Amino acid sequence: MKQTIIVGVTSSIATYKSVQLVSDLLKKGYDVEVIMSKNATQFVTPLTFSSLTKHKTYVETFDREVDYSVEHISLAKRASAFIIAPATANVIAKVAHGICDDMLTTTFLASHCPKLIAPAMNTQMLNNLITKDNIAKCKQYGMSIVNSECGLLACGDIGDGKLATIPHLIEALEEALTIDKPLLNKKVCISAGPTREELDPVRYISNYSSGKMGYALARTARNMGADVTLVSGPSELDAPYGVHMIPVHTTKEMFDACDQVFDTTDYFISAAAPADFKALKKEVHKIKKDKNTNFTTIELEKNIDILKTLGSRKTTQKICGFAAETNNVLLHAINKYKDKNCDILVMNDVSKPGAGFNVDTNIISILSSTGKVDYDIMSKKELSTIILNSLINS
Ligand code: PMT
Repeated sequence: MKQTIIVGVTSSIATYKSVQLVSDLLKKGYDVEVIMSKNATQFVTPLTFSSLTKHKTYVETFDREVDYSVEHISLAKRASAFIIAPATANVIAKVAHGICDDMLTTTFLASHCPKLIAPAMNTQMLNNLITKDNIAKCKQYGMSIVNSECGLLACGDIGDGKLATIPHLIEALEEALTIDKPLLNKKVCISAGPTREELDPVRYISNYSSGKMGYALARTARNMGADVTLVSGPSELDAPYGVHMIPVHTTKEMFDACDQVFDTTDYFISAAAPADFKALKKEVHKIKKDKNTNFTTIELEKNIDILKTLGSRKTTQKICGFAAETNNVLLHAINKYKDKNCDILVMNDVSKPGAGFNVDTNIISILSSTGKVDYDIMSKKELSTIILNSLINS
């Protein structure tokens, strides 16, 4: 059965963004109910939301068309999550103090599902101690705050108060909807993406890794309750919501970042494809073509093996390595599993269509002390749950 998300909409210039939020949630397969404050209807009409959700959009408590005394309770019971986005200083003050003077605030108080608040307002209003206190109170009552962002605000100011992006709102909802939290209070460090080794100021050695596998693992670990550090090489992907990102370029930088958190981490997952070699000497100026020959020689030296180095000094950490192979896949994977002191190793034959680099799916086998388990082609998101559970149980 579809999960029901209630989207509470209050009056802000960001109100129009909640239309996109509702549309994107519907596309993801959720049933969406919208409750608006009366003032929000000045910015967007209830009809806009009803056209999308195919449900009545609720506004006033005492609308004669519906028996709201019953309706708000039944909505509250059906909801899997309730998000107020955008949330004004006014509605935040009300829900912090249990004030129920319309359908939105009444249903919010009656709901027992995870509740999220996404503030959007002028910086001065956000920084006002009263608003800060109210936000802190909401947190104490167990509501999640999807922090606003810095940017150009409708009033012309540049500062904090911009509604979080729609992808971040949806990620925050997905995190709240994940009831099972086996990684609560655990620290997870994940490496993702490629690294780049410069040859000269305009050229580098790298590979086709997009970061998709590592980013999917980071999102799933976050949803499972973990405090996640994502050490990422250059990637075009959006940073996951609620994850501590450390952007790096070279394999040495990736090593340094992982090394810094390794001792305090519970799980280390090496999904990155770090460049194995770097130029012995990086040229200061662009390497020129030699007119007399078709060849030029660049001497390379081996890079540090991050996984092997950290694996050799593990104490309580559980470690997941990856093996990207194109031939003798199992043999190479078993060697890496042993050599790098992994608890589990995810083997992917990157020559298969739908597996490996820069695709949304993967075809993997997991090696562990109990043997090898093969999986059919699946999305990297689905596989990330399987990988994390396998690591937890290793
Ligand atoms: O990023 P995507 O586009 O989603 O692609 C996903 C992926 C193919 C990159 C991923 O599924 C994957 O297989 N990652 C490991 C890639 C790799 O470098 O494999 P490897 O067999 O060369 O290395 C073995 C292990 O050692 C890996 O865990 C790797 O992260 C690690 N390693 C490798 C070299 C190095 N210098 N340091 C390392 O830590």
